[in-house]
Amino acid sequence: MSDVDARPATLKPTVDVRTTVTDLLPLNPDELLTTTRTVRKRLDLERPVPVEVVREALEVALQAPSGSNKQKWHWLIVTDPELKKKVAEYYAASHAAYTGAVDPAEDPSRARIVSSSKHLAQVMGDVPVLVIGAIEIDEDDLPAGNQAGLWGSLLPVAYTKGTDFKPAPRKDLDSVIHLNGW
Ligand SMILES: Cc1cc2nc3c(=O)[nH]c(=O)nc-3n(C[C@H](O)[C@H](O)[C@H](O)COP(=O)(O)O)c2cc1C
Repeated sequence: MSDVDARPATLKPTVDVRTTVTDLLPLNPDELLTTTRTVRKRLDLERPVPVEVVREALEVALQAPSGSNKQKWHWLIVTDPELKKKVAEYYAASHAAYTGAVDPAEDPSRARIVSSSKHLAQVMGDVPVLVIGAIEIDEDDLPAGNQAGLWGSLLPVAYTKGTDFKPAPRKDLDSVIHLNGW
């Protein structure tokens, strides 16, 4: 973190970073954005996550833009062990149906992802907090394929074992960038 007090008043963040309820890592914005990984096998299932920490993250998330600034989002925070178990059962059933269609032997690059996502499916009920994002819509006859993406996403919330995450291999920029035309 830079020295917040040294900035001109107009540049001071309205959220006082020093009052955050969890420790912040000393990362600059580029480091933060390029090392934030999908963590499944290194979730710390023993360390509790206070609801205050989730509230703090959502307070930041609510600053995100939305179409026409409608903000029709809702966040269901699940900490009750029985409810988490039930959610985990539904997730495991969907996960089995999804990964059953993928043959890791045919696509070795996916084998690691399948392995780690299987692990997550097995421990989902033990993750300290589950956050289910949902959105209000005007019509309720949405095609099934669109429902998961629009109505709900399951976000497991846990501290990680270690914080040494790195940038991931991605498609080469030159293969996806198009300047003034395709
Ligand atoms: C919209 C979206 C939905 C995702 N859904 C799931 C999911 O249901 N389960 C899961 O384990 N990972 C999910 N992921 C994580 C991706 O599989 C992950 O980004 C990918 O494996 C690359 O990981 P990395 O960003 O750490 O390199 C999702 C990611 C996005 C952006």
